[in-house]
Amino acid sequence: MEFQTLAKQRYSVRDYKPDAIDPSLLDQVLSAGQIAPTAANRQPFKIIVIHTKEKKDELLKIYNRAWFSEAPIVLCGCGIPEQSWIRADGKSYLDVDIAIVMDHISLAAANLGLGTCWVASFDVDAARKILHIPSEVEPIIMMSLGYPAGSPGEKERKSLDELVSYELWNSPEQ
Ligand SMILES: Cc1cc2nc3c(=O)[nH]c(=O)nc-3n(C[C@H](O)[C@H](O)[C@H](O)COP(=O)(O)O)c2cc1C
Repeated sequence: MEFQTLAKQRYSVRDYKPDAIDPSLLDQVLSAGQIAPTAANRQPFKIIVIHTKEKKDELLKIYNRAWFSEAPIVLCGCGIPEQSWIRADGKSYLDVDIAIVMDHISLAAANLGLGTCWVASFDVDAARKILHIPSEVEPIIMMSLGYPAGSPGEKERKSLDELVSYELWNSPEQ
């Protein structure tokens, strides 16, 4: 799909068909995450692929929305802080890296007719316990993945004028 069309068509899918995802499609989606850029190419991440069948109760403990457990797959984007690049002033780019990886995944999924939804408001302790995530690893984002059952709503976005300035924080008067 042409990129602008793809970027506009992707939306947060919160209603999924029960249809399974072919493993070759899943591989394509995950490969898009694999080739994502990361700071200093550290690749400080691991994605846990969760097939949701027969795990509904556990998934609802992680994020209590029916649609989340009804997507055939949930991905858990984990960051590994000790592997991440840290700027001289101490800022870690772990969150940025994971966001880029998961965005590649989300867009690749949309390009294949699949839907995703980013989920940050999940229960981290429940995720750690259920997915056996060690203390030195940070589960940063959950992402549901499956065939959309509904249709997108209107995109609400601020105007480009609000989101962009030229040359300085406040664009100089022309
Ligand atoms: C980092 C991040 C965290 C998000 N967390 C949640 C979440 O916990 N639950 C949810 O339903 N949607 C979540 N979303 C989805 C946003 O609400 C959604 O992307 C936004 O409203 C724009 O809508 P669109 O994705 O359909 O364009 C999250 C999105 C991002 C990027």
